[in-house]
Amino acid sequence: MRLLKIVAGLTALLGAGQVQAEVTQLPLPTSCTGVSNLRYPGTVASGWSVMKIAGGLRGVRTVIWDVNGNMLVSEAGKGISVHTFGANGCINSTSTLISNVQLNHGLSLTPDSTTLYASGERTVWSWTYNPATRAVSNQKTAISGMDSGIHSTRNVLVVKSQPNMLLVQVGSNQNLDMQSAQPATGRAIIKIFNMSNAPANGFDYKTGGEVFAYGLRNEIGFVQDPAGVVWGVENSGDDFKLNNQDIHTDNPAEKLNNLGDPLTARNNWYGYPTCFTAWNPISGVNTGSQFMLAAGNGISSNADCASKTKAPRLSFQAHSAPIWNTFDTNATNMYVTFHGSWDRQPPTGFKVVQVPFTKLASGAYDPVAAADSKTGYTDIFSAPNPSGCTANGLTQSNCIRLTAASWDPAGRGLFIGSDNSAEGEIYILSKK
Ligand SMILES: *[C@@H]1O[C@H](CO)[C@@H](O)[C@H](O)[C@H]1NC(C)=O
Ligand SMILES: *[C@@H]1O[C@H](CO)[C@@H](O)[C@H](O)[C@H]1NC(C)=O
Ligand SMILES: *[C@@H]1O[C@H](CO)[C@@H](O)[C@H](O)[C@H]1NC(C)=O
Repeated sequence: MRLLKIVAGLTALLGAGQVQAEVTQLPLPTSCTGVSNLRYPGTVASGWSVMKIAGGLRGVRTVIWDVNGNMLVSEAGKGISVHTFGANGCINSTSTLISNVQLNHGLSLTPDSTTLYASGERTVWSWTYNPATRAVSNQKTAISGMDSGIHSTRNVLVVKSQPNMLLVQVGSNQNLDMQSAQPATGRAIIKIFNMSNAPANGFDYKTGGEVFAYGLRNEIGFVQDPAGVVWGVENSGDDFKLNNQDIHTDNPAEKLNNLGDPLTARNNWYGYPTCFTAWNPISGVNTGSQFMLAAGNGISSNADCASKTKAPRLSFQAHSAPIWNTFDTNATNMYVTFHGSWDRQPPTGFKVVQVPFTKLASGAYDPVAAADSKTGYTDIFSAPNPSGCTANGLTQSNCIRLTAASWDPAGRGLFIGSDNSAEGEIYILSKK
């Protein structure tokens, strides 16, 4: 009993992104039998290597790990697959855990790996998961009643220290979703649900739970740091004009938001659809600060945006399309995958960046760069010629389309996914 309690306490202390002591460490393979070469070229930063660990998948969106170090993958339009590894570090068995064409992004496990959540556009389901047999049972509707719209993915995250608490995100239903300034719409928002109190047929998204954070156009990826604070990446708006001037090439910035402690932070407004973040300085507003696109929702100036909405902690180049973020061991760095976008010429994104973090004297984790920095991150893996990436359109991109980002508990490095429609792939980026 005593030992069990110590182990449980350790797991709680370790938190997100930390090596779980019980996962067997594995070597980094140089290549794996049956896995083809990387489908698209990528430039690797000096000091890093890349290898392809899995191919032939469909729409890879999210990669997570169970307590035994097995890899669970959300494949959009197909379902959830589970992969075991051999002693050489390569995958040695793959099976379908859940077949459901509606599943398209969200995937999270409780820290003990007994409950699995996965999402489609309108519904989050839960299952009892067994990491020894890699099988699910007891499917339930956890949350339903989400709206549909231009953003169809709903990220989900189990709160590490309180595994009955579940964060569920819904994006805006259009580029400028004016109604979403009201949290009751259940859009451009992250809500938090206490699953211990779930009705038999699950919560209704709009009326159930509490508002964790809102005014988030599309917060597709978020993770907890070792202190429990949630960090989210946000895709901001397209084709914007400000005072009839076309500003879309370099504004607004994409965002890295400090969303706070999920057990205490509630109802913070991050500005959408009224206030946006400057990438290039604009109308007297510096990089990383909020500017007003059009008056409304109690905002009538850039100064109102600064005082009434929460600015991001760091911003990314406009139209990078950040999809997922993850911390390395001890949260020395965050890694963010950029899907890439159509709304800029030349296109940008199509890469993975490293955001150096530091632990402050207070014990809080924070990016090293200042909030007004344009250089708070560096490329570690990128499409060599992003200007050609959208030649055939975005979904037919002839480049890596990076999605999942997940630090390997078995020590091989950073697992990243690509959901290019030609082939779903997973690569390992590793420090040499
Ligand atoms: C998979 O890995 C396990 C653990 O190393 C090993 O016992 C087993 O033989 C491997 N199976 C295959 C098919 O390679
Ligand atoms: C969740 O609900 C349960 C059952 O009502 C309660 O005991 C628990 O304190 C709640 N958790 C949180 C974090 O509010
Ligand atoms: C993480 O921190 C622990 C405890 O300070 C240390 O032993 C370990 O080497 C660190 N790991 C890395 C990868 O920096």
